Amino acid sequence: MARCNAKLEAGRGLVERFRGLIEEARVLGVGTGSTVRAALRVLRDEGLLEGRILVASSVDTALELAGMGYRPVMPSVVSGVDFYFDGADEVDPGGNLLKGRGAAMLGEKILASMARVRVYVVTEEKLVDRLGSRRPLPVEAVPWAAEYVRRRLEGMGYRAEYRRCQGKDGPVVTDWGGVVIDVHTGPMEDPRAVEAEVSSIPGVVATGLFIGLTDYVVVAGPGCGYRVLDFTGRRPR
Ligand code: A5P
Repeated sequence: MARCNAKLEAGRGLVERFRGLIEEARVLGVGTGSTVRAALRVLRDEGLLEGRILVASSVDTALELAGMGYRPVMPSVVSGVDFYFDGADEVDPGGNLLKGRGAAMLGEKILASMARVRVYVVTEEKLVDRLGSRRPLPVEAVPWAAEYVRRRLEGMGYRAEYRRCQGKDGPVVTDWGGVVIDVHTGPMEDPRAVEAEVSSIPGVVATGLFIGLTDYVVVAGPGCGYRVLDFTGRRPR
């Protein structure tokens, strides 16, 4: 069997299946991560980044776009996002997501919330029965209250630890100055309830749970090829 780059396959799927919507989009929102980077290359090669306003979900993506010769803008200067694409760390059967491996979940969630259509590009192993099966839930807290937030999370019965930085002493600090706490929830029975519970702690800025923010998921692999999961029927608008 031919060897395929699964992330590029996901990008190819995004372009093949959503070309019309991307071409119609005046404002294109761009997520964060390695699959998004691969997809960006496909979009650029197809000329689909030209002539539209690009909004980046993180400094990393803004720098990536700048390196490709584009000038992304911040969300405050656009009234909406026509089409948003992003990666994910876990996808459950209802299309709910766990995100934030790269600590960009706040910017990603803002763009996903602003977007008319949101499509996620993932590789097969990201599909799980329950969110939290493979990865901890990232929570962004304001630094001033970080230890209070962490203790409240522990009080809810979770192991909660600061994500340690590599290349800097101390915790990971996000593009917006928040501290990242990784919460070991284990497989979640009810991610919507976890989102409500964790978000209710004063000092929490965002969690990596994306509930009801998915329209489609392009799943690459196993092997070559991709398929598209459609969640538009399940999402309350
Ligand atoms: C960034 O914080 C994350 O939410 C990414 O979107 C997610 O981790 C997917 O990244 P990869 O495509 O690199 O797996």
